[in-house]
Amino acid sequence: MPNEAMSGAGQSLTEQQTIDTKKGERVPDPCIVVIFGASGDLTKRKLLPALFHLEQQNLLPEDFAVVGVARRDLSATFAPDMQDGILKGGGVDAGDSALKPFVDRIKYFATEFDNDEGFERLKAFLADLDKQNGTKGNRLFYLAVAPEFFADIAQRLEKHGMTKATEPGQWINVIIEKPFGTDLASAKTLNAELNKVLSENQIFRIDHYLAKETVQNILVFRFGNGIFEPVWNRNFIDHVEITAAESIGIEGRGPFYEKAGALRDVLQNHVMEVLSFVAMEPPDSFASDAVRTEKLKVWKAIEPIPVEDTARGQYAAGTVDGQKVIGYRQEDRVSQESTTETYAAMKIQIANWRWAGVPFYIRAGKRLAERVTEVTVVFKQPPLHLFKGNDSNTTVSPNVLKIRIQPDEGITLMFGAKIPGPTTNVKPVEMHFSYADAFGKSSANGYERLLLDAMLGDGTLFAEREGVETTWALMTPVLEAWANNPPKDFPNYDAGSWGPGCSDDLLAKDGRKWFKL
Ligand code: BG6
Repeated sequence: MPNEAMSGAGQSLTEQQTIDTKKGERVPDPCIVVIFGASGDLTKRKLLPALFHLEQQNLLPEDFAVVGVARRDLSATFAPDMQDGILKGGGVDAGDSALKPFVDRIKYFATEFDNDEGFERLKAFLADLDKQNGTKGNRLFYLAVAPEFFADIAQRLEKHGMTKATEPGQWINVIIEKPFGTDLASAKTLNAELNKVLSENQIFRIDHYLAKETVQNILVFRFGNGIFEPVWNRNFIDHVEITAAESIGIEGRGPFYEKAGALRDVLQNHVMEVLSFVAMEPPDSFASDAVRTEKLKVWKAIEPIPVEDTARGQYAAGTVDGQKVIGYRQEDRVSQESTTETYAAMKIQIANWRWAGVPFYIRAGKRLAERVTEVTVVFKQPPLHLFKGNDSNTTVSPNVLKIRIQPDEGITLMFGAKIPGPTTNVKPVEMHFSYADAFGKSSANGYERLLLDAMLGDGTLFAEREGVETTWALMTPVLEAWANNPPKDFPNYDAGSWGPGCSDDLLAKDGRKWFKL
């Protein structure tokens, strides 16, 4: 990372501010953030609170404005509504002296996304704001819209002269929300359409997992410490598991989820991003290109995934957190014969020097027993089992490193210890680091870092063209094989369980079991 003071968890606002403003290198140029799809939940719940957190840390330029763009006319209610979102976002109270001046800089503009006249007026509106606020024509466009509008909006921005700098030093960057395509062909088409009107370094494809402190910390853990990297390879690691388990269901998003499913929704993007951080080689520096190059090398080294190395499932009714919940097929606007998977797992093999022979088992699912995202690194057994048979579990447990991404963010190392007493019995015990204990709770929601980086033109924590296409190239054959062979046993796991039996079989074939989280 270019800045060692990662935003959010880890530092109180005042400490963070002192570090960053002293260095004076992380404040973007004057600019306008223009959010398309601003009437959606994301703007109120995440983006505006995140921008305000940046303001509190003096990380926004003085000359700054936010413009929400959506179809409905919300001019009278938009700014107060955003203020409400900022207050609910945490870390601020109604009396905060920075709040009113910030809210005064929140504007709203209504237009259809396919209306040329509307875009022409938007251009004039932004130019006017430039004059009033000294924002110098710099823009961060944020496309928080349904994916079918990504290319249209970008093309219309170009058509109306809003994508190219008109003066030296001016910048125009565009953030694209997920999902970025639904398979390899659609991702390629989207990339091609965007690249017609924007250069690659103007495009910031967001993956909110990269905004998580704990995901960023994987790199610090590996490359900012001397003792872990020497054992981070096939000589010492037996296998790696990456789990993104959710206890929530599809939250009323039936039409979206029916077309997506767990593989497209979480595995192809969030989990593959985490995998690349766990598996990549040390980059030459934390410059964007260096990090992205190493991530890409990992994805390119992954062997084609045979369908036998995958498992899928769909939840039936069950009990989650003591509450009875309905099955997927009973959810609103979901087909009663739906074959969409709400759980996906697979074995990934990385054919490179470091990882040959070390499987990465990855899984993601809805309505599972708990919400937990974790990387579990299981180490090889010692060469000689001196204590075999004496362990309280009858075999010596391997060392396991658990990187808990959420919740209860932290890192735990498990190792065997002698149980006190006259005999030599070994029991697995834990050494634990907790983010909250070490650094306190943070109100940051992760988007702070990504918005700031996009304003600064730093793409390190964003997906790039080739990376997105490479992960889709890996996943598309699995999706096709699944589509050609519709599941006959859905629903095949109860809500509130740990997923379908076929997912356990995937590891059992290799003589392994998912680590109990
Ligand atoms: C989103 C998916 O990208 O990630 C959702 O569309 C999922 O279905 C969410 O619930 C998970 O994100 P987090 O940050 O809650 O783990």
